[in-house]
Amino acid sequence: MICDLKTMAGQTVQLRGWLHGKRSSGKVCFLVMRDGTGICQCIVEAAMADAFAGALALTHESSFEVTGTVRLDERSPGGAEVAVSGLRCFQVADEFPITRKAHGIDFLMNNRHLWLRSNRPTAILRVRHTVIKAIRDFFDGQGFTLVDMPILVPGAGEDRQSLFPVEYFDEKVFLTQTGQLYLEGACMALGKVYCFGPTFRAEKSKTRRHLTEFWMVEPEVAFAELEDVMALAEDMICAVAGAVVSANRAELEFLGRDVEALGKIAKPFHRLTYSEAVERLRGEPIRRALEEELERDTVRLQGLVAELEACEQSLAGAKKGWQQDKIDARIRELRENVQDLEQDIRARPEHIRLAQSFTWGKDLGGSDETILSRQFDRPVFVTEYPRDAKAFYMKVSPRDPRVVRNFDLLAPEGYGEIIGGSQREENIGTIGESMRAKGLDPEDYPWYLDLRRYGSVPHGGFGLGVERTVAWLCGLKHVRETIAFPRTMGRVYP
Ligand code: 4AD
Ligand code: MG
Repeated sequence: MICDLKTMAGQTVQLRGWLHGKRSSGKVCFLVMRDGTGICQCIVEAAMADAFAGALALTHESSFEVTGTVRLDERSPGGAEVAVSGLRCFQVADEFPITRKAHGIDFLMNNRHLWLRSNRPTAILRVRHTVIKAIRDFFDGQGFTLVDMPILVPGAGEDRQSLFPVEYFDEKVFLTQTGQLYLEGACMALGKVYCFGPTFRAEKSKTRRHLTEFWMVEPEVAFAELEDVMALAEDMICAVAGAVVSANRAELEFLGRDVEALGKIAKPFHRLTYSEAVERLRGEPIRRALEEELERDTVRLQGLVAELEACEQSLAGAKKGWQQDKIDARIRELRENVQDLEQDIRARPEHIRLAQSFTWGKDLGGSDETILSRQFDRPVFVTEYPRDAKAFYMKVSPRDPRVVRNFDLLAPEGYGEIIGGSQREENIGTIGESMRAKGLDPEDYPWYLDLRRYGSVPHGGFGLGVERTVAWLCGLKHVRETIAFPRTMGRVYP
């Protein structure tokens, strides 16, 4: 594999992969192969007549194999190259739709199956892999048992509005929104458990944070109270961020992520109650900070617009095709950034107004979370939300029955909620009342109430959304790039 070449100087190797780039003079052809582990320059001399003819015939993304000798060369991408003695082509690719030219996001998403081969998607998918592995290692190392939960379920686990119905023989069932309710059952059997699977929500909102199909890891712990569950979430996030910084520095840098900012993720995270968060949102310091930010962003926008105009002018002067492509790509990127920033700036006064007039009792909205999480350089816990704004299973606070023993964890730099968790209501009478208050019929959940009937204990857990976490760690604007084939309100293709 290409990633191993650096330790194989002088050895004969066989590499299989796809053509990433090619350049040739009459005497020598340089093939850049990618094999999923890296890229490598393969040098084919005209003296190797068969191999040379084969090399010339390869088109972008053609699949082929080379045999040759490894040479270390600092100038070569990856630090090693291969002097080719033999070449076999698997298939000469048709003209590849994705070129060096700039493409819009819709085009790229329609060709997601091919776009995946590019550097940006593969970098993100590698980070995603690290995130998932770090999560599993974390729980496995703490004595948790992984238990898989059903995907077809008879009723709501969160809110009823976002259920996806499925025809199940003669019955109507749903795709699961969360593994939690079932996981509580497994928790009473095994003590410390987690599930990790796909979850589904018919989210009618087109935002940067919502998918209709997303992956969630959910731990559940018996004899645990709110503070225990928060400590668990804190340790897990530190482990995950640490793993990504150490395993994926190259990918993060390629993506333009500020890696130093991730290095600051350490215990203790900030802790605010919901009521304190509301005070902050309505307070003078936040209003001032937001107005200053608005001024800074306006200046930044002017800078971007000026660069865009300069690029557009230099495009006319560019002679060579590759120069034009490069400028064109930058123009497209700038246009997207300008558009996003203009949209942000336009929305900002409304967000400021929403924050300033926030009334106690509402759930925090996306813009409120953004505003709060921009104030911190580490994740922040917001705890004890109003009971009416949250799910039925959350434990009612013994100190103040208007609030529940829950938390959301907001990722810093404006990313907002990545985890939702709580202590669960273990009292059968109280949970029945909470169900009715949310329009759910306790008669529909007899098995769930049994858990409060046979050895009920204080317990709790949380759910972390993988895609939002990857978006934060990679510094991406939108969750759609954090999963290989995203599902949103507007997209189920490819
Ligand atoms: O806050 P949520 O709805 O919590 C639950 O589902 C609980 N049952 C979890 C538990 O306590 N076991 O969702 C948890 C997390 C959110 O913080 C967010 O990261 C992610 O799941 N999430 C989504 N991610 C992408 N697209 C969506 N539409 C999401 N909805 C939730
Ligand atoms: Mg939530």
